[in-house]
Amino acid sequence: MYKCAAILAAGEGKRMKSETPKVLHKVCGKEMVNHVIDIMRKAGMEDVNVIVGKGAEKVKEGTKTRNVSYSLQEVQLGTGHAVMSAKSFLNGKNGTVAIFTGDAPLIKEETVKKFLSFHEEGSFKATILTSVIEEPAHYGRVIRNTQGEVEKIVEAKDCNPEEAKVKEINAGMYCFDIEALLNSLDKLKNNNAQGEYYLTDVIGILKSEGFKVGAMITDFEETIGVNSRIELAETERILRNRTNRKHMENGVTIIDPNSTYIGSDVEIGRDTIIYPGNVLEGKTVIMENCMLYPNSRIADSIIEANVDIQSSVIVESHVGEGTTVGPFAYIRPESIIGKHARIGDFVEIKKSTIGDNTKVSHLTYIGDAEVGSGCNFGCGTVVVNYDGKKKHKTVIGDNVFIGCNTNLVSPVEVKDNAYTAAGSTITSEVPNGALAVARARQVNIEGWVEKKGLKK
Ligand code: UD1
Ligand code: CA
Repeated sequence: MYKCAAILAAGEGKRMKSETPKVLHKVCGKEMVNHVIDIMRKAGMEDVNVIVGKGAEKVKEGTKTRNVSYSLQEVQLGTGHAVMSAKSFLNGKNGTVAIFTGDAPLIKEETVKKFLSFHEEGSFKATILTSVIEEPAHYGRVIRNTQGEVEKIVEAKDCNPEEAKVKEINAGMYCFDIEALLNSLDKLKNNNAQGEYYLTDVIGILKSEGFKVGAMITDFEETIGVNSRIELAETERILRNRTNRKHMENGVTIIDPNSTYIGSDVEIGRDTIIYPGNVLEGKTVIMENCMLYPNSRIADSIIEANVDIQSSVIVESHVGEGTTVGPFAYIRPESIIGKHARIGDFVEIKKSTIGDNTKVSHLTYIGDAEVGSGCNFGCGTVVVNYDGKKKHKTVIGDNVFIGCNTNLVSPVEVKDNAYTAAGSTITSEVPNGALAVARARQVNIEGWVEKKGLKK
């Protein structure tokens, strides 16, 4: 059966006290709404529609990589009204629409799948996701009849004392038969405590018309919505623990899970060992047997097997097998480091390729360069890639030895097997096998100290 999703993301999130719309706040390195979109896709939704309102342009910008469509809810008159705004997305479609909220990122893919099959196999016109909690507080209450069937949902503010005691709450996640939903939306009224059009009233409407309504109970933790920075941190902690447990179950050692921050889309190979203070973000892949010593940030990068990294930052780059990085290295976007290479302390690499077995051990900047294999960079090398207007390229062959404190003024080329003398400023090509010396010759002025009266 056809399945699509609509995600409510039009609210402001006042309690966040933020210029950023609530659904764009990040949990484990990813915007909450993008967590929800990704889960919907993984659960098999063919189309995903995001209902935007407050901060609409920002939300569209923040979700633009997700290939979703948008509906605009210009004024926020309630969750039912939000779904009415998505009518043109739903019109003419046949099948199931899952309605979720952009501020509840803890829902699991497998729960969404289970929920969808529960809805379809039960031939319900509407199915709600619920959970049972001791303090139902501000949540909508699920009211069941004597046969245990769901009759309606009553919002906390509209509950009578009897209803207020009910501990089964509406998680705010639903599956609807599209046609039945569209028919019911037209019947919603706003004669309630908040003067809003409640999506929850659709349940009572369908039930009173004799349609089958289902409810699936799930773990409360998965349904938690974020309304404040405190809840954001709490949600972060839950998702972090969940992600870390998954990696440990897969054979990764995490020395201290409470201080290890791994994004939901990160992949990690077996027998990799992660020390505290590591932050792994985006679409990062860490292969087998790596050692992540303390305090690195690795974002959107691929780290092959047997790599050691310590106290470094690696962004949008690739590090080959058996290489060591850091401490205190900075590998900037579009860099490709070969196998068994060494990128040492206080080394910055930007948009460059570094060949296999090449060593850049200390205090060096390499930008916009192509470096071959088996090279050695002396301490303090600078690729002078910027002339104040434009960036230029440097090409270094295989087995090149760059002496300490060399400047390579780009564009320039150093051919295979060449050497540069320490302290040289290289401005023109160095031929294969040559030694380039580009510095003033040393002059010794005998007796100078005594003549100046400086002798102690
Ligand atoms: C809603 C449910 C409640 C449930 C709870 C679970 C209704 C009427 N109530 O209450 O039964 O227990 O979620 O968390 O649905 N939104 C819009 N446009 C609007 C109003 C809201 O897009 O006009 C979005 C919000 O941005 C938010 C979501 O819908 O992401 C839920 O709205 P919110 O006002 O927080 O509903 P609750 O009062 O929490
Ligand atoms: Ca809410």
